[in-house]
Amino acid sequence: MAVLDDKVAVVTGGALGIGGAISQKFAAEGARVAVWDIDEEASANMVAKIEAAGGTCIAIRADVADRTEAASALAQTLDAFGQVDIHVNNVGIFNGFWRFLDIPEDAWNDMMRVNLGSPFICSQLVGRHMVEKKIEGRIINIGSVDGEIPYQDFAHYAVSKAAMRLLSQAMALSLAEHQITVNEIAPGFILTELSKFVIEAPPFQSRVKSFAPLGRAGTTEEVADAALYLASPQASYVTGAILTIDGGSVIAGRSYIQHQYLIEDGMLP
Ligand SMILES: NC(=O)c1ccc[n+]([C@@H]2O[C@H](COP(=O)([O-])OP(=O)(O)OC[C@H]3O[C@@H](n4cnc5c(N)ncnc54)[C@H](O)[C@@H]3O)[C@@H](O)[C@H]2O)c1
Repeated sequence: MAVLDDKVAVVTGGALGIGGAISQKFAAEGARVAVWDIDEEASANMVAKIEAAGGTCIAIRADVADRTEAASALAQTLDAFGQVDIHVNNVGIFNGFWRFLDIPEDAWNDMMRVNLGSPFICSQLVGRHMVEKKIEGRIINIGSVDGEIPYQDFAHYAVSKAAMRLLSQAMALSLAEHQITVNEIAPGFILTELSKFVIEAPPFQSRVKSFAPLGRAGTTEEVADAALYLASPQASYVTGAILTIDGGSVIAGRSYIQHQYLIEDGMLP
């Protein structure tokens, strides 16, 4: 018996990157997986990969920040699988570095529409389905460690992820009476299409210890393992939690700088 046998899981942005790893992990553990993604080619590849490994997966093309498209994706998922037990709000974009005064309004609006709008819309749609069918469901939001630091050079992304934290926790409180848990995973640097322009740039390796004391970027599988835990029976009493998967990057922050200064100032051998 696999951990997610008999479960149906939706993964938004489940065709690539972190979402792709979660789709594969959940399918390998017995879940029937619905990938809701705008990239049809990548989605078809994901379905083929999961089926080749013996799993069950469908792909539905949807911009999950659009309520009509998300509602249609849910209807198609219910037609195919009958229910949704686990919903992962994984979709997120990063659209550039700017100083605060220079953030273009459309970049700000796109960020909020996708990073905050999609979990709001999808969780309402799927949450109502879970409540109606009395499903003791799981909602898992993929946030970011950037949601707890006031980054001055990408305030729009950090703010979208900070808001997602409170959204996750407000949802956890609101849905608790229905026995639906809501938790967030906050990844640090994870190698994907979204982040490779930073992680694969030469300065990253020389600076990696200031970002992540474990000395490397994380893998998508390491995030998928955390998602599997939150979806599993072992996490039945966990709600409103933020599970940080970052190789220590958040706790490094000021401590790392202090450590360097003490060495530079000759106070520490
Ligand atoms: N990669 C990292 O280092 C990192 C770190 C912290 C948090 N995160 C978060 O993890 C999540 C996944 O990131 P990733 O690095 O795997 O991204 P990615 O860009 O590699 O993959 C994102 C997937 O989402 C899909 N997508 C994008 N917009 C969509 C939309 N409107 N509707 C439907 N599908 C859409 C894409 O087609 C793609 O398949 C994001 O929320 C991101 O903010 C990533």
